[in-house]
Amino acid sequence: MEKPGKTISIEEKVKCKVPFGTVSITEQARKLINTALDTTFVTNGKYVKEFEERFAKIFGVKYAVAVSSGTDADALSCATLYDFGAQRGDEIIIPALTFIATANSVFQAGFKPVFVDVERETLNISPDKIEAAITPRTRALMPVHLMGKPAEMDKIRAIAKKHDLRIIEDAAEAHGAEYKGEKIGTMGDMAAFSLYAAHIITTIEGGIVITDNPDIHRALVSLRNHGIENKFDFKRIGFSAKMNEIEAAVGIGNTEIFEEILAKRRKNLLYLIDQFKPFDEYLITLKEADHEKIGPHAFSIIVRQDAPFSKEEFVRYIESKGVDSRNLFYSIPTQCPSYAFLGHKTGDFPEAEYCSDNGTHIGIHQHIESDQLDYVAEVVRDFIKEKIS
Ligand SMILES: Cc1ncc(COP(=O)(O)O)c(C=O)c1O
Repeated sequence: MEKPGKTISIEEKVKCKVPFGTVSITEQARKLINTALDTTFVTNGKYVKEFEERFAKIFGVKYAVAVSSGTDADALSCATLYDFGAQRGDEIIIPALTFIATANSVFQAGFKPVFVDVERETLNISPDKIEAAITPRTRALMPVHLMGKPAEMDKIRAIAKKHDLRIIEDAAEAHGAEYKGEKIGTMGDMAAFSLYAAHIITTIEGGIVITDNPDIHRALVSLRNHGIENKFDFKRIGFSAKMNEIEAAVGIGNTEIFEEILAKRRKNLLYLIDQFKPFDEYLITLKEADHEKIGPHAFSIIVRQDAPFSKEEFVRYIESKGVDSRNLFYSIPTQCPSYAFLGHKTGDFPEAEYCSDNGTHIGIHQHIESDQLDYVAEVVRDFIKEKIS
């Protein structure tokens, strides 16, 4: 497995024994970057096209459109809805607990996000609560596969079919995940991926949308370039969201080692799930059901209600031992100040709020080895022992 570049100092490495994220930049990518720089073909060009073709091939879909970020991938996906009769201000249903970008992108595209609570055990949108949130202005369901764990797509697809809604998968964190044998990202009308540094396939910054629908593909290509169709025919209110050749070169390198990265992350995930079994009385952690394969982004840990310690104590302890962590996002409508204007109040999304108040996540990426995972388990074991003694 290719090692990460010199991105963190020795001091930081010693301090941080188990870093949250990493990035793989292959030798092939370095060569392509140099070629692009030498020839000065650095904007949206042949490497972007090659990266899109490789990405589409991995997922077995007809089209992939590379853009500047995962947030743009989400926003452009939403904006394609105008091609099918949606009006500004229409609604898109998203989970209350997700990275803020999911909600922001809906607004950026001119729609209103309508939030539905999640399930504490899966972190994903609660399918049984979706129908109550549907109104005559709902145009799409946008499930998020948080941590790379697939949302309940059978139920989501049935609801979308019943109410004639589009499905936009936010697969930002779920490269390589599978649900009942189907690839996540191929189960809706389109799927948006983040290619940010910490993700399984990365272009450092970047995003990509995949679809089998030629009309959605045409809209996406136009939307990423100011809404242009043909030469200077501004057909849509577009974005400036193109990917450049340097980023695409990193992405091409990553497509070469995708299976390797995925396999290593899955090995780490399954190992850590096993290591955390003795802590189940106190911690809810990411689990894989028989019908799914998680495309591991990170490992979520939520402190159970009756545990004899708080999330703050837990996080402070593991961080002090060099285990890097991040908060498990927020209930966007009730815990993010930028969304207060929507008028929701604490308690409206109890499960999302619980996950945020009591949850964290840690790295399980391709540059983490099993001795580091043993170390994580040892740290957690020591902490719990101290708390229950
Ligand atoms: C669920 C989700 N959606 C969207 C995004 C946005 O991606 P980006 O940071 O590439 O804009 C992220 C980022 O990690 C994410 O986790």
